[in-house]
Amino acid sequence: MKAAIFFSALLFAAGLSLSGSASAQQSRPELVSGCAPCHGADGVSRSGAVPNLAGQNEPYLLNQLRAFHTGKRAHKEMRYMSRNMTEQEMEAIAAYFSSLPPR
Ligand code: HEC
Repeated sequence: MKAAIFFSALLFAAGLSLSGSASAQQSRPELVSGCAPCHGADGVSRSGAVPNLAGQNEPYLLNQLRAFHTGKRAHKEMRYMSRNMTEQEMEAIAAYFSSLPPR
């Protein structure tokens, strides 16, 4: 039993270190911990002013992240959150949130 827990912890760590690469699409990218205070750990927002991300269309999420990243979609917090993201990170984040169950 202990070995199984240890093994799944290892798998989890391996998943984290792969995050950001296209091969780890549905695993949880490290960056999403920074989204939780506003968008919820499960991608379901607790505030009416913040959109839900869980279950949202993947291409839409990716387009919004790119738009915040470049400043094309103006929003102070989201511009700040996305300013240093790479294309790969944005793809992994969009894949992750779109794979979560919607509210
Ligand atoms: C400080 C709070 C805050 C944090 C932290 C934050 N967001 Fe946001 N996010 C918002 C708000 C508010 C909006 C709505 C923007 C608007 O009104 O145009 C938004 C919008 C978005 C949208 C567009 C959704 C839509 O339906 O158009 C995406 C995608 C998104 N955030 C992703 C993220 C990701 C990924 C992270 C973590 C890396 C993150 N956000 C962190 C507050 C936050």
